Amino acid sequence: MKATARAHTNIALIKYWGKRNESLILPANSNLSVTLDGFSTETTVHFQEHLTEDSFILNEQSAEEDARTKIAVFLDKVRALSGKEIYAQVQSVNHVPTAAGFASSASGLAALAAASTKAIGLSLEDRELSRLARQGSGSASRSIYGGFVEWQMGEREDGLDSYAIQVADASHWNIRIAAVVLSKTVKKVSSREGMRRTIDTSPFYAGWLEQTAKDLQEIKQAIADKDFEKMGSVTEANCLRMHATTLGANPPFTYWQDNTMRVMQTVQGLREQGIPAFFTIDAGPNVKVLYLPEDEDKIKTRLNAVEGVEDIIISKPGSGISYM
Ligand code: ADP
Ligand code: DP6
Ligand code: CO
Repeated sequence: MKATARAHTNIALIKYWGKRNESLILPANSNLSVTLDGFSTETTVHFQEHLTEDSFILNEQSAEEDARTKIAVFLDKVRALSGKEIYAQVQSVNHVPTAAGFASSASGLAALAAASTKAIGLSLEDRELSRLARQGSGSASRSIYGGFVEWQMGEREDGLDSYAIQVADASHWNIRIAAVVLSKTVKKVSSREGMRRTIDTSPFYAGWLEQTAKDLQEIKQAIADKDFEKMGSVTEANCLRMHATTLGANPPFTYWQDNTMRVMQTVQGLREQGIPAFFTIDAGPNVKVLYLPEDEDKIKTRLNAVEGVEDIIISKPGSGISYM
């Protein structure tokens, strides 16, 4: 009863920001991402009869009690699905900074969902796996698939119709995504807490929600047409609008740092010189830059010259879940 799975992270082009149901993790809006081949998690789950609780080792270190509890809560759902009362050792390696805005919860919970269900003897369809991963971390619902992925919010209050689907596979469009590393430290406000505070207190939230459904329709068309300018400009505007909502929250907060702004301005400067490049930012200070392969050298040179840039990690659209 042992299995290993790998999942890649993803970057949202249309953001998931706010839950309509906290315990089932149902989003307030449908959203869309690209799976990234440059960042991943590999997780092994081993169910054993003699264990009396779940254990969790992350990056070769025993995890803190609250991290272990999160794993146990997730495995409770897997046990309920299978009808087996059995505990597991979970070992995971993040090839991505943890809790720093690089979407470790997406690859982490997608890999956990895949490895744990296989280890306990369930064979789930992608859609069912997405629905399960969603209940660990919303963005993980998308990391089940490669390429361009939409998490459909669904209408039901039991969440049965809230899962991700692939919009286009990784080979559909050869774009590049540069993750500009500014800080790998753990964020002060987790994604979960940040979106909760925003939806509960920010008067800007209604405006965000109103526009985001339109953004989703536009970006799906842009992806189908391979219209890079359209895709990039919708992505950037959607990101800015999401981050604007946090400034209206109580207490107000932002994920940006001074160097975040410098990278954003550099990307806008590249565009003024005729190089199509667009940024997006998840819940953290680090910036992801979308561009086309022919501009790679110029993009790297310009981004590397920005004060505060520690590293640049290049991704292509990546693949979905795989088993080792
Ligand atoms: P991120 O930007 O990295 O997704 P979040 O605040 O959304 O940050 O989520 C971070 C949380 O995701 C961690 O505190 C942990 O609970 C969970 N997580 C990260 N990596 C893993 C992993 N490999 N396995 C299980 N859970 C993980
Ligand atoms: C800004 O999926 O990390 O990256 O569902 O509470 O675990 P939980 O949150 P998470 O939120 C991601 C927020 C985001 C946007 C996105 O990835 O769509
Ligand atoms: Co996350």
